[in-house]
Amino acid sequence: MQLPDPALVVLVGASGAGKSTWAAPRYRAQEVVSSDALRGIVGSGPHDLDASADAFGVLETIVEARLRRGLTTVVDTLGLDPTRRLAWLAAARAAGLPAVVVLLDTPEAECRRRNSARDRPVPAPVLAAQLKTARDVRRQLEAEGWDLVAAVAVESTADVPVALPDSVPVSAPALPVGDRTSSLGLRSVLQVSRFPWGEEPLAWLTDIARAADEAGFAGLALMDHLIQVPQVGRAWDPIPEPWVTLGAIAGLGTGLELGTLCTPVTFRPAGVTAKAAATLSALTGGRAFVGIGAGWFEREHAAHGIAFPPARERLDELERAVVTMKALWSAGTKSYDGHGVVLPETTSYPRPAGPIQVVVGGSGERRTLRIAARHADACNLRTTDEAELARLVGVLHAHCDDVGRPRDEVAVTVLDLPVVGRDRDDVWARVERLRGRTAAATYAARTLAATVDGHRDRWARLAGLGVTTVFLATPDLGSPEDVLALRGLNA
Ligand code: GTP
Ligand code: MG
Repeated sequence: MQLPDPALVVLVGASGAGKSTWAAPRYRAQEVVSSDALRGIVGSGPHDLDASADAFGVLETIVEARLRRGLTTVVDTLGLDPTRRLAWLAAARAAGLPAVVVLLDTPEAECRRRNSARDRPVPAPVLAAQLKTARDVRRQLEAEGWDLVAAVAVESTADVPVALPDSVPVSAPALPVGDRTSSLGLRSVLQVSRFPWGEEPLAWLTDIARAADEAGFAGLALMDHLIQVPQVGRAWDPIPEPWVTLGAIAGLGTGLELGTLCTPVTFRPAGVTAKAAATLSALTGGRAFVGIGAGWFEREHAAHGIAFPPARERLDELERAVVTMKALWSAGTKSYDGHGVVLPETTSYPRPAGPIQVVVGGSGERRTLRIAARHADACNLRTTDEAELARLVGVLHAHCDDVGRPRDEVAVTVLDLPVVGRDRDDVWARVERLRGRTAAATYAARTLAATVDGHRDRWARLAGLGVTTVFLATPDLGSPEDVLALRGLNA
């Protein structure tokens, strides 16, 4: 059962229905606001009924404060009082969060049986009154306007949603399943963007690359920057030259494809990039790729004495670069003249040991995606918004149609920068470490923070949108253990 997240989740059910038991493995302890637990804090214990009014006062404050911050809040009370329910619903609406009810629809006899087995059973008449209220609650809930009312069949393992919002079924296309293609039909490439390698750069790189290989990644990509970019780190953090670094990784003999994401076209003449990639292909037995883009970080150019022409010129150069590289990698040494590129000969050895995929990075609709459609093997888009991704794929395909290129010759790849945690607690610990001054809920939403399973669900949707390869860069990748923790994404 997929519940929205973040969201207000109101548990509803009589004593012993299994509300607390349902919530415990699914949510962090801090996300569950329980009237019983608060009775134990403001009163003598979870069953101190004299403390109820104070406990609910604190509960309302906590629920309101968490929702206002956009944080998931699970309200663990009986949930049978319509006035309280509507107040929580209003608070979620005010915060712009989805509001759902999880109805623990446990048979009455089972609630009674569990109740009598407890250390402190609820008095029988009290439970009878709860069960009576619970009989009508489903009808009331449907009238209250919740985004989702999900009934949990507690005795079976199946969760049965009774009222789902409109949803579009995702049909996964039949993709060719090849080497290192996951059961989702995707290949993933680990993009390494930060290099906390301490005193031993080569040892660190070796460990990271071996871990990526072991974790089932299809490839490893390095950023190509002359100064670390502010999105990733500080200007004085190390950011190594990628082709030299990939050469070192090539020496490890892993099964990884190796390349850049992305090389700015401004850094090297295209012929030199073609030479570097062909050399890497020769050294890896044909497992090199080139991600290439127009470049954007003006500061690194100025600092290194490299020209940074206007965008239109960089895009012209990007197109010529792809054409030049392809010409230099093709068989023979004949001259080349096309698409604004004139080469008197295409003598360049070693030739690549296999096809070198050119991935054009960037989502520019008019030029970048047209260059990808016309000349490249793949485009590389950002993923934070699935609707936007679907739209950009449409733009790419329109360019393909327009230039007369079969759509399936241009693979759709994405750059994914999510926070990935082992479990919900780990996800939120990472968010808390990484968020800086950004509000936790905002940072979590921006980085799509989730567990491996959560990201697998999302990646399945990406595959449904036509994505074939995910370039994955987590913002806190520091050790081989961090890489191995991503293994589930490649299963
Ligand atoms: P209150 O807090 O009193 O309102 O009850 P609750 O709805 O939170 O019920 P809770 O989760 O505490 O579960 C009550 C008892 O039922 C506990 O002893 C649980 O171990 C047991 N229980 C809960 N869910 C299940 C279930 O799915 N199967 C079985 N067999 N027992 C369950
Ligand atoms: Mg409980």
